[in-house]
Amino acid sequence: MKRILPMLSGMIMKGLMTAFFAFFLFSFTGTRMYASNPPDEGMWLPILIERLNYVDMEKMGLHLTEQELYDINHSSLKDAIVGLSGGGAAAGGFFCTAEVVSGEGLLFTNHHCGYNAVQSHSTPEHDYLTDGFWAMTKGEELSNENVCASFLVRMENVTDSVIPFLSDTLKESARSDKIKELTAKMKKRASENGKYEVSVKAFYGGNEYYLFVFLTYKDVRLVGAPPSSIGKFGGDTDNWMWPRHTGDFTVFRIYTDSTGKPASYNKNNIPLKPKFHLPISMKGVKKDDFAMIWGYPGTTNRYMTSFGIDYAVNTVYPSIIKIFGKRLEVMKERMDVDKKVNIDYAGTYAGIANTWKNFIGQTKMLVKNKVGDKKKSIEADFTSWYGKSPELTKKYGAVLSDLQKNYSQMKKIAVPFFYATMAGSGLDVVQFAGSFGSLKSALEKKNKSGIKDAAEALKKSTKDHFKKIDPAISRKTLSEGLKLYSQNVAKDQLPSVFALIEKDYNNDFNAFADAVFNTSIFASEGKAMEFLDKPSLKVMNKDLGSVMAQSFQDAGGKYMTSMGEARSAVTAGNRHFIAGLREMDPKLVRYPDANSTLRMSYGKVLDYYPADAVHYEYYTTLSGVMQKEDPNNEEFIVPAKLKELYRTKDFGPYAENGDIVTCFLTNNDITGGNSGSPVINGNGELIGLAFDGNWEAMSGDISFEPDLQRTINVDIRYVLFIIDKYAGATNLIKELTLVK
Ligand code: ARG
Repeated sequence: MKRILPMLSGMIMKGLMTAFFAFFLFSFTGTRMYASNPPDEGMWLPILIERLNYVDMEKMGLHLTEQELYDINHSSLKDAIVGLSGGGAAAGGFFCTAEVVSGEGLLFTNHHCGYNAVQSHSTPEHDYLTDGFWAMTKGEELSNENVCASFLVRMENVTDSVIPFLSDTLKESARSDKIKELTAKMKKRASENGKYEVSVKAFYGGNEYYLFVFLTYKDVRLVGAPPSSIGKFGGDTDNWMWPRHTGDFTVFRIYTDSTGKPASYNKNNIPLKPKFHLPISMKGVKKDDFAMIWGYPGTTNRYMTSFGIDYAVNTVYPSIIKIFGKRLEVMKERMDVDKKVNIDYAGTYAGIANTWKNFIGQTKMLVKNKVGDKKKSIEADFTSWYGKSPELTKKYGAVLSDLQKNYSQMKKIAVPFFYATMAGSGLDVVQFAGSFGSLKSALEKKNKSGIKDAAEALKKSTKDHFKKIDPAISRKTLSEGLKLYSQNVAKDQLPSVFALIEKDYNNDFNAFADAVFNTSIFASEGKAMEFLDKPSLKVMNKDLGSVMAQSFQDAGGKYMTSMGEARSAVTAGNRHFIAGLREMDPKLVRYPDANSTLRMSYGKVLDYYPADAVHYEYYTTLSGVMQKEDPNNEEFIVPAKLKELYRTKDFGPYAENGDIVTCFLTNNDITGGNSGSPVINGNGELIGLAFDGNWEAMSGDISFEPDLQRTINVDIRYVLFIIDKYAGATNLIKELTLVK
């Protein structure tokens, strides 16, 4: 599961979503519902396991010691856990989790986590997305520019070096400046002259701070991926749902320089000799077996107020659902008829589809599971608690009413603000025009060398930009996007370009989009290159693409300040609310929200009852894959080789009761970013890879639902069966430590 987004894969949310979430969701923080957590609820910090969870875990079936789980002086289980990122641990969150499974640096993660990497190596002639990819020797493994693997070296609570130095009267921006200043020195020291990456992160809404030290490897190669008909079986129809039959895994390998240190790609690099790798259980799982999951969950909002839920469900999500739905429709039309387009847009499409469905599910389940009412009852308890003491009333009396006020301020301007900022990341012409900002200012200043430098840099990015773009998708996304914009934002809040479209194009958005594509230097590689050979301010200023981009920027700018102020106030309000809840009842807020830091969740293998009279078994099988087979539906095609293995029952040592178990459920508490995380049994052996959450609990990032919430995992024996019997990559099987 990756983040708000992709539940399980944080990656899903890149691009557009970055802008969106930065403005909307990251400003939320949430509330839990249970006075004493059921053991399955909680994403726990590894350094607190000993104090908070260990006894409980032992009772449930864990046979490892605390030191075998987390130890900074000796190798421990945490040394097998990897955060995957595009550019390293300090650059932002991890998009997924992976785990080391051999003494030669082999990694398992999800198929949807490796999807962009597989796409980047695919062409219509070598379509690894469709056909799968297997390196039969190390020499055939493929290097990747945008995959880094980080190991946590250690973590430390630094709250006492931060919080006492922040005065209560600081504005939010001054507060974050002060935090940067306070943490800069400790980060520098912990980095040991650049050997490590270091980040300091806020917990409990900013009431505590922890420091994290990472070792990051940048040469991570693609080793194997099943065809999408296995790795993405069931497609977007089955996504976010159980029963599931997806072989959602991909294999990578970490390489180091000859001394074992991190190094960028070099063909002479050697496979990592890891401190620790996970043994793999061949025994399978049964109901109630202990299961723990380690990884990097991205974002939860368990302490969000009822006002935050109202804002999300009634203001934010409807806009995303509309805009994303339209983008998917436009992409699909072209992807279905053009193989190259189908490959080039695969990752973007999957990411948007994942998020789109997630928001539809969240909207539905937040209402169905009555999460708003649960929050209101906590808020009522909080109000009567502080009401009993004048001192507490002074401290907390305004927290909820301020939050309510600021959310309603955001509600007033969110839609026009969102459309204006979304345009920049969703429309290629607008986004590309925006990247010419430094050239524009050099032209305005008549700075000759500045103009030359900017133009040269832009020539390179121009090539990259157009390489990945299908003009037909670009053009239609523009006309449809403008239409949506005009339908959903009040006339007096529309950017000025809409007046021009009305006057000169009679509100015909197709005609306007055609005009942009026929004339704009930002819509064609040829025109852009020609312009960059002879940059001119006059040409730029009257370019339709430029006029449009500028008008969006101005429109967004109008709301920027008030949006920023309301968001800061919400951040502060949430921090105070969480502090208050902890003071009211320390048991109520035991674990911090997910924030892309290493967490452990424990629970067990478990079935569920999704509705009255309906029971969902905790595992699925290859027979179920065959039941779902539909050769006429691309999402449910079963590859011929897999059918043959099924027909002849050629299952090797991976079968159970004459069938192959494909996926199973646990009640672990995870979210987006946990995608690819190891599911580990009581002996510390790998039993599966977490890859999704279930539909009935799509509200789970805001409120954990013990009766309904499940993690969907691919059984490790299905992974091994595909590697061994389907792909014939016995070279990989030999590297693993299998426990019979
Ligand atoms: N829901 C999964 C997650 O967020 C991603 C599944 C990808 N599969 C798909 N059909 N889009 O991590």
